[in-house]
Amino acid sequence: MDEFIYRDGALHAEDIVIGELAEAVGTPFYCYSAATLRRHYNVLDAALADAGLDTRLICYSVKANSNLAVIATLAQLGAGADIVSQGELTRALQAGIAPEKIVFSGVGKTAEEMRAALSAGILQFNVESLSEIDLLADTANSMGKTAEIALRVNPDIEAGTHKKISTGSAETKFGIAWEDAEAGFAHARALDGVEAVGIDIHIGSQITDLTPFRRAFEKVADLLARLRADGHEIRRLDLGGGLGVPYGRDNDTPPDPNAYAQMIAETLGDSGCQIMLEPGRLIAANAGILVTSVVRTKQGQAKNFMIVDAAMTELMRPTLYDAHHHIAPVHENAAAVKNWDVVGPVCETGDFLGLDRALPVLEDGDLLAIFAAGAYGSVLGSAYNTRLPAPEVLVDGKKWAVVRSRPDYQALLAGEAIPDWF
Ligand code: LLP
Repeated sequence: MDEFIYRDGALHAEDIVIGELAEAVGTPFYCYSAATLRRHYNVLDAALADAGLDTRLICYSVKANSNLAVIATLAQLGAGADIVSQGELTRALQAGIAPEKIVFSGVGKTAEEMRAALSAGILQFNVESLSEIDLLADTANSMGKTAEIALRVNPDIEAGTHKKISTGSAETKFGIAWEDAEAGFAHARALDGVEAVGIDIHIGSQITDLTPFRRAFEKVADLLARLRADGHEIRRLDLGGGLGVPYGRDNDTPPDPNAYAQMIAETLGDSGCQIMLEPGRLIAANAGILVTSVVRTKQGQAKNFMIVDAAMTELMRPTLYDAHHHIAPVHENAAAVKNWDVVGPVCETGDFLGLDRALPVLEDGDLLAIFAAGAYGSVLGSAYNTRLPAPEVLVDGKKWAVVRSRPDYQALLAGEAIPDWF
């Protein structure tokens, strides 16, 4: 459910007419709905509460959409944050996330990043290798601190999602091999500077079937029992993110958060551990659209092309993951429908937003919305072809604000220099 709704033939974000936003900020731009962000967070939190998971912590995975205003909207609801870099730490703190609700994930944390997170007083580091544990222990010791850690274990489970976003199988770079998990905990126990308090998993993203989650959670329950038998005081289980969302508007059936929460309760509810989740897409995807205008249409030999002013530089997902995003005119339009490839101006055949889409014949300058673009949209953007990054707008009821502005070309080139010897 989201708050992008047609009223009198015009797409609105909550109470704001998208066409009016387009006039004010120019296209392409991202538009986020604060009410939708809140709803997604609250639905998940309520599902966990209904399943009896009382000591829970939802750490929004900042990588999905790291705009400060988006993070701040969730911080106001009491969300924590899942971060993967010092940059994301900076954003999360600046947006008002409490440090004691921040978990630091990722395979490549540097000593500098560890120091910054230790200084900030974050809740937990999710560590993925023995050498990372050693570096963290050294770093924490040098600061007179003890870092609470969860070991990310790789349950070797196929998540059944796109291969580039599957993270729980043995071939991926993620986590400590399942067979090595107990040795990893024993390693951590022998060190000062770290305290192993949790088990962490994350098996992939855009997972639409609950079965792989259930298998992973059952394995976690099994590992937890073995670790406890060995005297480890495990008090947190971080079950990662990954819950899929609908991309097609009507035809997808993503898992129901209630069924997901019930399944967590069935497999791990009696563990006595705090249950942590790291959702990104579930919170942000359907809370954002990308608005673009038609530059021109072109009749090719084999196809009709609708060339728009957004491109793979704004939304990489179609070309990177073969992702489908629903595309529709911003103003409902009764013109005859044709099949179009909706493409951007970038000089790559992979620069498309949607292929073979049934859309009305539009005029140059008409607006299109690309839906479910709130997660892994703007954050994956680039300035390839020296295109200006798209601005971002946050709507909240009748209010709206530009929450990231479009730079000008001088700002884009500001960090570059021609050496003096030229
Ligand atoms: N936790 C960890 C450790 C992760 O690696 C990720 C996502 C999440 C949480 C959040 O997962 P989510 O709830 O959003 O599924 N760019 C890709 C998605 C990459 C996901 C990477 N990790 C896409 O556009 O589909």
